[in-house]
Amino acid sequence: MIIENENDIKQLKAIGHICAMALKEMMSQVRPGMTTAELDNIGMEFLKKEGAQSAPIAMYQFPGATCISISPIIAHGIPGDHVLREGELVNIDVSAEMDGYFGDTGASMVVAAHVPEYEKMIAATKSALAKAVQVARAGQPLNLIGRTIQDEAKRNGYGVIYDLTGHGIGRHLHEEPVQVSNFFREKENYILEEGLVIAIEPFLTTGRGRVLEGRDGWSLRTVDKKIAAQFEHTIIVTKDEPIILTI
Ligand code: CO
Ligand code: CO
Repeated sequence: MIIENENDIKQLKAIGHICAMALKEMMSQVRPGMTTAELDNIGMEFLKKEGAQSAPIAMYQFPGATCISISPIIAHGIPGDHVLREGELVNIDVSAEMDGYFGDTGASMVVAAHVPEYEKMIAATKSALAKAVQVARAGQPLNLIGRTIQDEAKRNGYGVIYDLTGHGIGRHLHEEPVQVSNFFREKENYILEEGLVIAIEPFLTTGRGRVLEGRDGWSLRTVDKKIAAQFEHTIIVTKDEPIILTI
């Protein structure tokens, strides 16, 4: 969506903040021995308490309030009876709706241990998101975001996942622009407009950057079973630095 008035900003900030707090709460509660369904429940209860609705349930009848993906699954992991173990690489993605406005955020983390190999990729992904947010300004081409993410990934020795992208958001979970790619698409000619609301979500990997759907019909894992990480923010594009909604 394109912001039309102050109320749009206010509502987007409200749902963005709720998503961010739900994610933070879930991450702080991650413990070895707990199931991903238990972790999801923490997120669900948080959203409910704040008056928000899980977007994956509302929009797609997803079998969970949030997406919890254990590497090499990197997106749309279904919360269930998987018991979290020390040293696992986990991604949590929270998207939710309130009063007709949507927010979307995500983060990767290691369960209760130091795994330098994972932490390095997590730091690089976070950095790619921060740099992409910095270049997302009115008048700039959309593909500058993908180029920036790809460059930052490469600089740190990683590749991006080509099949998973950010997206326009606001009045729906997914809107125009349908794809905010994580790589440089030369033919992409979309120009970022002031007030545009987008979710930027770099996915970095040590593999070749392709994913396939699991037998559960939802989960997406790297084809080569290589590790991957994701971080995501929902932002409003302005002439200057964007407004980050999911903080
Ligand atoms: Co998300
Ligand atoms: Co998203």
